[in-house]
Amino acid sequence: MQYAMRQKRNNNITFPPVYHIDRREIAAVTAVMKKGPLSGFVGEPGPEFFGGCAVRRFERAFARKFGVKHATSFNSATTALHGAIVALGIGPGDEVIVPPYTMSASATCVLMNGAVPIFADIEPDTFCIDPRDVARKITRRTKAVMMVNLFGRTGDMKALLSLARRHRLAIIEDNAQSAGARFHGRYTGTIGDIGVFSFNVHKQIQSGEGGVLVTNNRKFADRALLARNHGENLSGEYSGAGPIFGTNYRMTEVTAAIAEVQLEKLDFLNRKRVALARRLSKRLAGTPGLTLPRPPEGGSHVYYAYPLRFDEKAAGLSRAEFVRKLQKRGFPIGAGYVEPLYLLPLFQKKQAFNGTHFPFDYNGRAEPDYRKGLCPVTERMHYREFVGTDVCQHPYTAAHIDAFAVAVKEVLAQAKKR
Ligand SMILES: Cc1ncc(COP(=O)(O)O)c(C=O)c1O
Repeated sequence: MQYAMRQKRNNNITFPPVYHIDRREIAAVTAVMKKGPLSGFVGEPGPEFFGGCAVRRFERAFARKFGVKHATSFNSATTALHGAIVALGIGPGDEVIVPPYTMSASATCVLMNGAVPIFADIEPDTFCIDPRDVARKITRRTKAVMMVNLFGRTGDMKALLSLARRHRLAIIEDNAQSAGARFHGRYTGTIGDIGVFSFNVHKQIQSGEGGVLVTNNRKFADRALLARNHGENLSGEYSGAGPIFGTNYRMTEVTAAIAEVQLEKLDFLNRKRVALARRLSKRLAGTPGLTLPRPPEGGSHVYYAYPLRFDEKAAGLSRAEFVRKLQKRGFPIGAGYVEPLYLLPLFQKKQAFNGTHFPFDYNGRAEPDYRKGLCPVTERMHYREFVGTDVCQHPYTAAHIDAFAVAVKEVLAQAKKR
C-alpha cells in the first residue's frame, strides 16, 4: 500500500521501496522489443481484435492459474471494473451496492456507465462489505453488489452469495488487493460472476499498470472484449453481445510480457508475505490495544497490507501518536486507509459530469443518501481505529518484522509509564 513509500532509516534497518522486477522481466521485455510490434491490437473484426501474442499468452496463463474460462486483460483494474459494469449490462437507472472503504474506482466504475453506487457498511473484523447492510440497501433498481476483497482477504462471501442468489443480483469481486487468496477451495476473484485484478505498482504482482477481468460466463466475456476494444466496430460475430460502444482499454505487449513473469512469482510473494504476517501476529499476540488480522474461516489471507485495529483506551495513547512515533522510527505505517467514499466531494455534491447531477437524479429518481454517518463502522475504522502497515512485504525479512514488533511494544510500554 502507500505506506511502503515512506522510506526512512530505522537505526540499522531500512525499508526500501517494494519492487520485485529482475532479469526475467528484463529478458521478457527485451524479447518483445526486439520482435515488435509493441501492441498487437486493432479495433476491428479479425484476429487482431484480441491483441498480440504476449497479451494472449498472458491471458491464457492467467485463466489457467485461476481456473477460469475467460481472462481478459485491461490496461488497469479501474478500466477492467468499468468493463465488468458494461459486461453486466448495468447503466442509467440501475444501482450497484458497493463498500465505501476501498479505492475510489470500486465506486466510480458504476458512475462511468451512468448507474449509481449505493454504499453499504463494512464489517469491523474483515473490513469488507457487510451482507446485512447490503440486504437493507437492496431496491428494485439494484443490479449487482460488489465484494471488495480488501487488504488480502475476502469477507462474508457465503452470506453475500446466498443474498445475491435470493435477489437475482450479480456479484462483482474487486480482487485488486487479493490475488492468490482463497475461500473454501476457490481463488477470490473467481467466486462471483466477474472478478477483477490489478497489477499497478502497489500490488502483489505488478506490471506498472494493468488489470484482468475474469469470468466463467461467455456472454459477459464477450461484452468485456467489446468494452475493451472499440466494440462499436464489430457486429456479426458479436451481435448477441452488442451493440456496445467500446473504448481503448488495451494492454500493450510489453506490459503483458512483464505481467506473465510476475504471475509466476505470485505464489512465492504470497507465501513470503503470509510467513512474515504470521511471525508478526505471533510477536504481537496479546498486546493490549491491538486487534490483529485473521484469515477468513475456510480461506486464506495474503496480507496485501497488515491491517490492525487500534483501541486508544486500552493502549493508553492516541492512534495518531502511536503511528507518528513508529513513523519517526522509520516504519511504513499509517492511520486510516481512504476517506469513506461517500464523503468525497464528488458524492457530497453529486456532481460527476460537469454541473449536472446525472446520474444521481436520472429519470426523476430521489437522489441517493451519502450523508455523514451513513456507514458508522467505516467511519469508526477510518477516523479512530484502522492502522495499516507494509512491513510484511517483499523484500522485507524476519529482522524487519522483529524490529517492528519490538518498536510497537516499546511505544506502548512508554505510554503506560506516563
Ligand atoms: C481495491 C482496489 N480496486 C481498484 C483499484 C484500481 O486499480 P488500478 O490502479 O489497477 O486501476 C485499486 C488500486 O489501488 C484497489 O486497491
